[in-house]
Amino acid sequence: MHFEPTLEFAREMDHNDPLKAFRQQFYIPQINGKKAIYLCGNSLGLQPKSLEGFLKQELNDWKNLGVEGHVHAQNPWMYYHHSFAGPLSRLVGAHEKEVSAMNALTVNLHILLASFYRPAGKKVKILVEAQLFPSDYFVALSQIEQYLRLSGRHDFVAEDAILQIYPRKREYFVRNEDVIRFIDQHQDELALVLLGAVNYYNGQWFDMESITKAGHKAKAIVGFDLAHAIGNVPMQLHDWEVDFATWCSYKYLNSGPGGPSGIFVHESHLNNPDTPQLKGWWGHEETTRFNMELNFIPAHGADRWQMSNVSVLSLAAHKAALTITDQASLTALREKSIKLTAYLEYLIDLWTADYLHIITPRNPDKRGCQLSLLTQGNGKQLFDTITANGVIADWRNPNVIRIAPTPLYNSFEDVFQFAAFIKDALT
Ligand SMILES: Cc1ncc(COP(=O)(O)O)c(C=O)c1O
Repeated sequence: MHFEPTLEFAREMDHNDPLKAFRQQFYIPQINGKKAIYLCGNSLGLQPKSLEGFLKQELNDWKNLGVEGHVHAQNPWMYYHHSFAGPLSRLVGAHEKEVSAMNALTVNLHILLASFYRPAGKKVKILVEAQLFPSDYFVALSQIEQYLRLSGRHDFVAEDAILQIYPRKREYFVRNEDVIRFIDQHQDELALVLLGAVNYYNGQWFDMESITKAGHKAKAIVGFDLAHAIGNVPMQLHDWEVDFATWCSYKYLNSGPGGPSGIFVHESHLNNPDTPQLKGWWGHEETTRFNMELNFIPAHGADRWQMSNVSVLSLAAHKAALTITDQASLTALREKSIKLTAYLEYLIDLWTADYLHIITPRNPDKRGCQLSLLTQGNGKQLFDTITANGVIADWRNPNVIRIAPTPLYNSFEDVFQFAAFIKDALT
Protein backbone atom coordinates (compact mmCIF):
# COMPACT_ATOMS: atom_id res chain seq x y z
CA MET A 1 0.00 0.00 0.00
CA HIS A 2 1.35 3.41 -0.88
CA PHE A 3 0.81 6.14 1.72
CA GLU A 4 1.93 9.74 2.17
CA PRO A 5 2.05 11.70 5.43
CA THR A 6 0.05 14.69 4.24
CA LEU A 7 -3.43 16.04 4.77
CA GLU A 8 -3.87 16.26 0.99
CA PHE A 9 -3.14 12.55 0.65
CA ALA A 10 -5.61 11.67 3.44
CA ARG A 11 -8.30 13.81 1.79
CA GLU A 12 -7.62 12.16 -1.57
CA MET A 13 -8.10 8.75 0.07
CA ASP A 14 -11.41 9.95 1.51
CA HIS A 15 -12.46 11.33 -1.85
CA ASN A 16 -11.89 7.89 -3.43
CA ASP A 17 -13.50 5.95 -0.56
CA PRO A 18 -16.60 4.08 -1.85
CA LEU A 19 -18.03 4.08 1.71
CA LYS A 20 -17.55 7.80 2.37
CA ALA A 21 -21.28 8.62 2.33
CA PHE A 22 -21.93 6.41 5.36
CA ARG A 23 -20.24 8.92 7.70
CA GLN A 24 -23.16 11.28 7.04
CA GLN A 25 -25.54 8.74 8.54
CA PHE A 26 -24.03 9.14 12.03
CA TYR A 27 -23.93 11.90 14.63
CA ILE A 28 -20.29 12.80 15.33
CA PRO A 29 -19.85 14.04 18.94
CA GLN A 30 -18.72 17.62 19.47
CA ILE A 31 -15.92 18.90 21.68
CA ASN A 32 -15.79 22.67 22.31
CA GLY A 33 -18.21 23.24 19.43
CA LYS A 34 -16.08 21.27 16.94
CA LYS A 35 -16.61 17.78 15.57
CA ALA A 36 -14.50 15.39 17.61
CA ILE A 37 -12.05 12.94 16.09
CA TYR A 38 -13.90 9.90 17.33
CA LEU A 39 -11.70 6.80 17.42
CA CYS A 40 -13.56 4.88 20.09
CA GLY A 41 -15.95 2.67 18.11
CA ASN A 42 -14.37 -0.32 19.88
CA SER A 43 -15.97 0.95 23.07
CA LEU A 44 -19.21 2.60 21.96
CA GLY A 45 -20.27 3.04 18.34
CA LEU A 46 -21.89 6.30 17.22
CA GLN A 47 -25.59 7.01 16.99
CA PRO A 48 -27.17 6.49 13.56
CA LYS A 49 -29.34 9.44 12.55
CA SER A 50 -32.07 7.00 11.48
CA LEU A 51 -32.34 5.52 14.97
CA GLU A 52 -34.86 8.04 16.28
CA GLY A 53 -37.32 7.13 13.49
CA PHE A 54 -37.08 3.42 14.27
CA LEU A 55 -37.69 4.14 17.96
CA LYS A 56 -40.58 6.50 17.27
CA GLN A 57 -42.34 3.80 15.28
CA GLU A 58 -42.38 1.50 18.31
CA LEU A 59 -43.20 4.31 20.76
CA ASN A 60 -46.18 5.30 18.61
CA ASP A 61 -47.40 1.74 18.26
CA TRP A 62 -47.13 1.29 22.01
CA LYS A 63 -48.94 4.62 22.58
CA ASN A 64 -51.73 3.75 20.15
CA LEU A 65 -52.08 0.01 20.54
CA GLY A 66 -50.90 -0.91 24.03
CA VAL A 67 -50.61 -4.67 24.40
CA GLU A 68 -52.12 -5.19 20.95
CA GLY A 69 -48.78 -4.10 19.57
CA HIS A 70 -47.45 -7.60 20.22
CA VAL A 71 -49.40 -8.73 17.15
CA HIS A 72 -50.73 -5.57 15.48
CA ALA A 73 -47.78 -3.17 15.57
CA GLN A 74 -46.36 -2.35 12.16
CA ASN A 75 -43.50 -4.66 13.17
CA PRO A 76 -45.31 -7.05 15.54
CA TRP A 77 -43.23 -7.21 18.72
CA MET A 78 -43.75 -10.92 19.18
CA TYR A 79 -41.77 -11.59 16.05
CA TYR A 80 -39.53 -8.52 16.11
CA HIS A 81 -36.36 -10.55 16.67
CA HIS A 82 -36.97 -12.51 13.44
CA SER A 83 -35.67 -9.58 11.42
CA PHE A 84 -32.17 -10.02 12.89
CA ALA A 85 -31.56 -13.53 11.61
CA GLY A 86 -30.50 -12.30 8.14
CA PRO A 87 -28.10 -9.48 9.06
CA LEU A 88 -26.58 -11.24 12.09
CA SER A 89 -26.00 -14.49 10.21
CA ARG A 90 -24.24 -12.55 7.44
CA LEU A 91 -22.00 -10.83 9.99
CA VAL A 92 -20.82 -14.00 11.70
CA GLY A 93 -21.02 -16.46 8.79
CA ALA A 94 -23.86 -18.61 10.07
CA HIS A 95 -27.14 -20.13 9.00
CA GLU A 96 -30.08 -17.94 9.98
CA LYS A 97 -31.38 -20.48 12.48
CA GLU A 98 -27.99 -20.49 14.28
CA VAL A 99 -28.28 -16.88 15.53
CA SER A 100 -30.62 -14.96 17.79
CA ALA A 101 -30.65 -11.47 19.34
CA MET A 102 -31.25 -11.39 23.08
CA ASN A 103 -30.09 -10.27 26.54
CA ALA A 104 -26.66 -8.80 27.25
CA LEU A 105 -23.24 -10.27 26.57
CA THR A 106 -22.23 -11.44 30.04
CA VAL A 107 -25.70 -12.87 30.64
CA ASN A 108 -25.44 -14.80 27.38
CA LEU A 109 -22.00 -16.09 28.28
CA HIS A 110 -23.53 -17.57 31.42
CA ILE A 111 -26.47 -19.01 29.52
CA LEU A 112 -24.17 -20.59 26.94
CA LEU A 113 -21.76 -21.96 29.51
CA ALA A 114 -24.73 -23.51 31.28
CA SER A 115 -25.17 -25.44 28.03
CA PHE A 116 -21.60 -25.95 26.92
CA TYR A 117 -19.39 -26.16 30.00
CA ARG A 118 -19.77 -29.87 30.67
CA PRO A 119 -16.99 -30.91 33.03
CA ALA A 120 -16.47 -34.60 33.71
CA GLY A 121 -13.72 -36.56 35.39
CA LYS A 122 -10.35 -34.90 34.72
CA LYS A 123 -11.74 -32.72 31.94
CA VAL A 124 -12.90 -29.74 34.00
CA LYS A 125 -10.67 -26.87 32.84
CA ILE A 126 -11.45 -23.77 30.80
CA LEU A 127 -8.80 -22.18 28.59
CA VAL A 128 -8.92 -18.38 28.32
CA GLU A 129 -6.43 -15.81 27.01
CA ALA A 130 -4.21 -13.62 29.19
CA GLN A 131 -5.57 -10.10 29.59
CA LEU A 132 -9.07 -11.20 28.80
CA PHE A 133 -12.02 -8.96 29.59
CA PRO A 134 -12.68 -9.45 33.33
CA SER A 135 -16.34 -10.33 32.83
CA ASP A 136 -15.35 -13.42 30.83
CA TYR A 137 -13.04 -14.54 33.63
CA PHE A 138 -15.79 -14.00 36.21
CA VAL A 139 -18.22 -16.04 34.12
CA ALA A 140 -15.77 -18.93 33.76
CA LEU A 141 -14.89 -18.83 37.45
CA SER A 142 -18.45 -18.74 38.69
CA GLN A 143 -19.54 -21.53 36.35
CA ILE A 144 -16.74 -23.73 37.72
CA GLU A 145 -17.69 -22.76 41.29
CA GLN A 146 -21.28 -23.71 40.54
CA TYR A 147 -20.15 -27.08 39.18
CA LEU A 148 -18.08 -27.70 42.32
CA ARG A 149 -21.07 -26.89 44.55
CA LEU A 150 -23.48 -29.09 42.62
CA SER A 151 -21.12 -32.02 42.11
CA GLY A 152 -19.81 -32.01 45.67
CA ARG A 153 -16.27 -32.40 44.32
CA HIS A 154 -13.43 -31.08 46.46
CA ASP A 155 -10.44 -32.33 44.48
CA PHE A 156 -9.63 -28.97 42.89
CA VAL A 157 -10.35 -25.28 43.40
CA ALA A 158 -12.09 -23.16 40.79
CA GLU A 159 -9.16 -20.77 40.14
CA ASP A 160 -6.91 -23.72 39.25
CA ALA A 161 -9.38 -24.87 36.62
CA ILE A 162 -8.87 -21.70 34.57
CA LEU A 163 -5.88 -21.97 32.26
CA GLN A 164 -4.62 -18.66 30.90
CA ILE A 165 -2.39 -18.60 27.86
CA TYR A 166 0.30 -15.91 27.85
CA PRO A 167 2.48 -14.41 25.12
CA ARG A 168 6.16 -15.37 25.11
CA LYS A 169 8.62 -13.19 27.04
CA ARG A 170 9.01 -9.72 25.51
CA GLU A 171 6.06 -10.38 23.15
CA TYR A 172 2.66 -8.75 23.37
CA PHE A 173 0.28 -11.26 21.85
CA VAL A 174 0.08 -15.04 21.75
CA ARG A 175 1.43 -16.93 18.76
CA ASN A 176 -1.14 -19.16 17.15
CA GLU A 177 1.18 -22.19 17.25
CA ASP A 178 1.49 -21.67 21.02
CA VAL A 179 -2.30 -21.75 21.43
CA ILE A 180 -2.53 -24.95 19.40
CA ARG A 181 0.34 -26.58 21.34
CA PHE A 182 -1.17 -25.49 24.66
CA ILE A 183 -4.53 -27.06 23.78
CA ASP A 184 -2.81 -30.25 22.73
CA GLN A 185 -0.71 -30.41 25.91
CA HIS A 186 -3.77 -29.91 28.12
CA GLN A 187 -6.19 -32.10 26.22
CA ASP A 188 -6.71 -34.51 29.10
CA GLU A 189 -8.02 -31.77 31.38
CA LEU A 190 -9.65 -29.31 28.98
CA ALA A 191 -13.46 -29.10 28.90
CA LEU A 192 -13.81 -25.75 27.15
CA VAL A 193 -11.85 -23.19 25.14
CA LEU A 194 -13.29 -19.69 25.60
CA LEU A 195 -11.44 -16.86 23.86
CA GLY A 196 -12.17 -13.26 22.96
CA ALA A 197 -12.02 -13.62 19.16
CA VAL A 198 -10.43 -10.17 19.01
CA ASN A 199 -8.75 -9.39 22.32
CA TYR A 200 -10.07 -6.14 23.76
CA TYR A 201 -6.68 -4.97 25.05
CA ASN A 202 -4.09 -5.69 22.37
CA GLY A 203 -6.45 -6.07 19.39
CA GLN A 204 -5.19 -9.55 18.42
CA TRP A 205 -7.58 -11.52 16.22
CA PHE A 206 -7.12 -15.19 17.01
CA ASP A 207 -7.06 -17.76 14.25
CA MET A 208 -10.53 -19.00 15.13
CA GLU A 209 -10.62 -21.83 12.61
CA SER A 210 -7.40 -23.60 13.61
CA ILE A 211 -8.11 -23.08 17.31
CA THR A 212 -11.57 -24.59 16.90
CA LYS A 213 -10.06 -27.57 15.10
CA ALA A 214 -7.44 -28.03 17.84
CA GLY A 215 -10.10 -27.72 20.55
CA HIS A 216 -12.23 -30.38 18.91
CA LYS A 217 -9.22 -32.67 18.48
CA ALA A 218 -8.76 -32.30 22.25
CA LYS A 219 -12.45 -33.21 22.67
CA ALA A 220 -13.20 -29.78 24.12
CA ILE A 221 -16.02 -27.40 23.25
CA VAL A 222 -14.91 -24.14 21.62
CA GLY A 223 -16.71 -20.82 22.09
CA PHE A 224 -15.82 -17.19 21.40
CA ASP A 225 -16.68 -13.79 22.82
CA LEU A 226 -17.19 -11.69 19.69
CA ALA A 227 -17.56 -8.29 21.41
CA HIS A 228 -14.61 -6.87 19.45
CA ALA A 229 -15.01 -9.05 16.39
CA ILE A 230 -18.57 -8.64 15.17
CA GLY A 231 -18.89 -5.93 12.53
CA ASN A 232 -15.09 -5.65 12.61
CA VAL A 233 -13.71 -8.82 11.03
CA PRO A 234 -15.27 -11.40 8.69
CA MET A 235 -16.04 -14.78 10.22
CA GLN A 236 -17.40 -18.15 9.09
CA LEU A 237 -18.58 -19.60 12.37
CA HIS A 238 -20.67 -22.32 10.76
CA ASP A 239 -17.99 -23.60 8.41
CA TRP A 240 -15.31 -23.35 11.10
CA GLU A 241 -17.58 -25.50 13.31
CA VAL A 242 -17.36 -23.13 16.25
CA ASP A 243 -19.68 -24.50 18.94
CA PHE A 244 -21.05 -21.23 20.27
CA ALA A 245 -20.40 -17.51 20.35
CA THR A 246 -21.94 -14.36 21.75
CA TRP A 247 -21.42 -10.64 21.23
CA CYS A 248 -22.63 -7.16 22.11
CA SER A 249 -24.03 -4.66 19.64
CA TYR A 250 -22.91 -1.36 21.14
CA LYS A 251 -19.38 -1.34 19.68
CA TYR A 252 -18.96 -1.91 15.94
CA LEU A 253 -22.70 -2.46 15.49
CA ASN A 254 -23.65 1.02 16.80
CA SER A 255 -26.86 -0.11 18.52
CA GLY A 256 -26.53 2.15 21.56
CA PRO A 257 -25.24 1.80 25.13
CA GLY A 258 -26.24 -1.57 26.55
CA GLY A 259 -27.74 -2.58 23.17
CA PRO A 260 -28.89 -6.18 22.69
CA SER A 261 -26.44 -9.03 22.58
CA GLY A 262 -26.80 -12.02 20.30
CA ILE A 263 -25.79 -15.64 20.26
CA PHE A 264 -24.59 -18.21 17.77
CA VAL A 265 -25.07 -21.92 18.39
CA HIS A 266 -23.78 -24.33 15.78
CA GLU A 267 -26.38 -26.33 13.90
CA SER A 268 -24.91 -29.56 15.27
CA HIS A 269 -26.11 -28.58 18.76
CA LEU A 270 -29.54 -27.35 17.77
CA ASN A 271 -32.30 -29.81 18.48
CA ASN A 272 -29.75 -32.21 19.90
CA PRO A 273 -31.53 -33.69 22.91
CA ASP A 274 -28.12 -33.98 24.64
CA THR A 275 -27.59 -30.21 24.59
CA PRO A 276 -28.73 -29.01 28.01
CA GLN A 277 -30.11 -25.51 28.32
CA LEU A 278 -31.61 -23.06 30.78
CA LYS A 279 -35.22 -22.56 29.80
CA GLY A 280 -37.71 -19.70 29.85
CA TRP A 281 -41.09 -19.10 28.26
CA TRP A 282 -39.68 -17.06 25.35
CA GLY A 283 -37.58 -20.04 24.29
CA HIS A 284 -40.77 -22.04 23.87
CA GLU A 285 -41.95 -22.78 20.34
CA GLU A 286 -43.78 -19.68 19.08
CA THR A 287 -47.16 -20.95 17.90
CA THR A 288 -47.91 -22.75 21.16
CA ARG A 289 -46.09 -20.46 23.62
CA PHE A 290 -49.27 -18.76 24.75
CA ASN A 291 -51.00 -22.03 25.53
CA MET A 292 -49.06 -21.66 28.78
CA GLU A 293 -48.55 -25.37 29.15
CA LEU A 294 -45.75 -26.77 31.24
CA ASN A 295 -44.18 -29.09 28.69
CA PHE A 296 -41.33 -27.12 27.12
CA ILE A 297 -41.27 -27.35 23.33
CA PRO A 298 -38.09 -25.63 22.09
CA ALA A 299 -38.38 -22.81 19.57
CA HIS A 300 -36.72 -23.09 16.19
CA GLY A 301 -32.92 -22.85 16.19
CA ALA A 302 -30.94 -20.59 18.50
CA ASP A 303 -34.17 -18.80 19.49
CA ARG A 304 -34.74 -21.62 21.94
CA TRP A 305 -32.06 -20.04 24.19
CA GLN A 306 -34.25 -16.96 24.60
CA MET A 307 -35.79 -16.83 28.02
CA SER A 308 -37.51 -13.49 28.44
CA ASN A 309 -39.31 -11.35 25.92
CA VAL A 310 -36.77 -8.97 24.47
CA SER A 311 -36.84 -5.17 24.89
CA VAL A 312 -38.39 -3.98 21.64
CA LEU A 313 -37.10 -0.43 22.14
CA SER A 314 -33.53 -1.60 22.21
CA LEU A 315 -34.20 -4.01 19.33
CA ALA A 316 -35.51 -1.04 17.32
CA ALA A 317 -32.21 0.79 17.83
CA HIS A 318 -30.38 -2.41 16.90
CA LYS A 319 -32.41 -2.71 13.71
CA ALA A 320 -31.71 0.88 12.66
CA ALA A 321 -27.98 0.36 13.12
CA LEU A 322 -27.77 -3.10 11.54
CA THR A 323 -29.61 -1.86 8.46
CA ILE A 324 -26.72 0.54 7.81
CA THR A 325 -23.98 -2.07 8.40
CA ASP A 326 -25.82 -4.48 6.12
CA GLN A 327 -26.07 -1.84 3.38
CA ALA A 328 -22.37 -1.08 3.61
CA SER A 329 -21.56 -4.84 3.61
CA LEU A 330 -18.88 -6.37 5.78
CA THR A 331 -16.72 -7.16 2.74
CA ALA A 332 -16.46 -3.50 1.76
CA LEU A 333 -16.05 -2.42 5.39
CA ARG A 334 -13.19 -4.84 5.92
CA GLU A 335 -11.49 -3.72 2.71
CA LYS A 336 -11.55 -0.10 3.90
CA SER A 337 -10.67 -1.07 7.46
CA ILE A 338 -7.44 -2.77 6.40
CA LYS A 339 -6.32 0.40 4.57
CA LEU A 340 -7.45 2.78 7.31
CA THR A 341 -5.60 0.88 10.06
CA ALA A 342 -2.52 0.45 7.86
CA TYR A 343 -2.49 4.24 7.37
CA LEU A 344 -2.62 4.76 11.12
CA GLU A 345 0.21 2.25 11.56
CA TYR A 346 2.28 4.01 8.87
CA LEU A 347 1.90 7.45 10.50
CA ILE A 348 2.58 6.16 14.03
CA ASP A 349 5.74 4.39 12.84
CA LEU A 350 6.87 7.42 10.85
CA TRP A 351 6.29 10.11 13.43
CA THR A 352 6.18 8.59 16.88
CA ALA A 353 8.03 5.24 16.84
CA ASP A 354 10.44 6.38 19.59
CA TYR A 355 7.58 6.97 21.96
CA LEU A 356 4.71 4.69 20.91
CA HIS A 357 5.07 0.97 20.42
CA ILE A 358 2.32 -0.85 18.54
CA ILE A 359 1.46 -4.01 20.50
CA THR A 360 -1.24 -5.17 18.08
CA PRO A 361 -0.15 -7.75 15.48
CA ARG A 362 1.41 -6.17 12.38
CA ASN A 363 -0.22 -8.72 10.11
CA PRO A 364 -3.69 -7.45 9.04
CA ASP A 365 -4.97 -11.05 9.09
CA LYS A 366 -4.32 -11.12 12.82
CA ARG A 367 -6.11 -7.92 13.80
CA GLY A 368 -9.28 -5.93 13.23
CA CYS A 369 -9.36 -2.15 12.99
CA GLN A 370 -7.88 -1.43 16.44
CA LEU A 371 -4.26 -0.56 17.17
CA SER A 372 -3.09 -0.57 20.79
CA LEU A 373 -0.24 1.83 21.44
CA LEU A 374 2.08 1.18 24.36
CA THR A 375 3.38 4.52 25.62
CA GLN A 376 6.79 5.24 27.13
CA GLY A 377 7.08 7.82 29.92
CA ASN A 378 4.02 9.85 30.81
CA GLY A 379 1.48 8.33 28.44
CA LYS A 380 -1.53 9.57 30.39
CA GLN A 381 -0.37 13.15 29.97
CA LEU A 382 -0.09 12.61 26.23
CA PHE A 383 -3.55 11.07 26.19
CA ASP A 384 -4.99 14.02 28.11
CA THR A 385 -3.35 16.46 25.69
CA ILE A 386 -4.87 14.84 22.61
CA THR A 387 -8.22 14.60 24.38
CA ALA A 388 -8.10 18.36 25.00
CA ASN A 389 -7.44 18.73 21.25
CA GLY A 390 -10.73 17.03 20.41
CA VAL A 391 -9.74 13.37 20.09
CA ILE A 392 -11.98 10.76 21.70
CA ALA A 393 -9.95 7.57 22.19
CA ASP A 394 -9.47 5.07 24.97
CA TRP A 395 -6.91 4.90 27.78
CA ARG A 396 -6.13 1.59 29.49
CA ASN A 397 -4.01 1.54 32.62
CA PRO A 398 -1.13 1.42 33.04
CA ASN A 399 0.15 2.67 29.67
CA VAL A 400 -1.94 1.80 26.60
CA ILE A 401 -3.94 3.97 24.21
CA ARG A 402 -6.45 2.04 22.11
CA ILE A 403 -7.35 3.56 18.77
CA ALA A 404 -10.10 2.14 16.59
CA PRO A 405 -10.54 3.74 13.18
CA THR A 406 -14.00 2.44 12.32
CA PRO A 407 -14.57 2.11 8.56
CA LEU A 408 -18.28 2.96 8.70
CA TYR A 409 -17.77 6.53 9.87
CA ASN A 410 -14.07 7.27 10.30
CA SER A 411 -12.08 8.96 7.56
CA PHE A 412 -8.43 8.95 6.54
CA GLU A 413 -8.45 12.60 7.59
CA ASP A 414 -9.49 11.53 11.13
CA VAL A 415 -6.50 9.20 11.24
CA PHE A 416 -4.16 11.86 9.88
CA GLN A 417 -5.38 14.50 12.38
CA PHE A 418 -5.02 12.10 15.30
CA ALA A 419 -1.45 11.14 14.36
CA ALA A 420 -0.57 14.80 13.74
CA PHE A 421 -1.86 15.77 17.22
CA ILE A 422 0.26 13.02 18.77
CA LYS A 423 3.31 14.13 16.79
CA ASP A 424 2.81 17.77 17.84
CA ALA A 425 2.27 16.81 21.46
CA LEU A 426 5.57 14.92 21.46
CA THR A 427 7.70 17.67 19.90
C1 LIG B 1 -14.63 -8.53 25.39
C2 LIG B 1 -15.79 -8.14 26.25
N1 LIG B 1 -16.45 -9.09 26.95
C3 LIG B 1 -17.48 -8.80 27.75
C4 LIG B 1 -17.92 -7.49 27.89
C5 LIG B 1 -19.07 -7.21 28.83
O1 LIG B 1 -20.18 -6.79 28.13
P1 LIG B 1 -21.63 -6.61 28.79
O2 LIG B 1 -21.56 -5.50 29.77
O3 LIG B 1 -22.48 -6.23 27.61
O4 LIG B 1 -22.03 -7.89 29.40
C6 LIG B 1 -17.29 -6.46 27.19
C7 LIG B 1 -17.71 -5.06 27.32
O5 LIG B 1 -17.17 -4.13 26.79
C8 LIG B 1 -16.18 -6.80 26.34
O6 LIG B 1 -15.50 -5.86 25.67
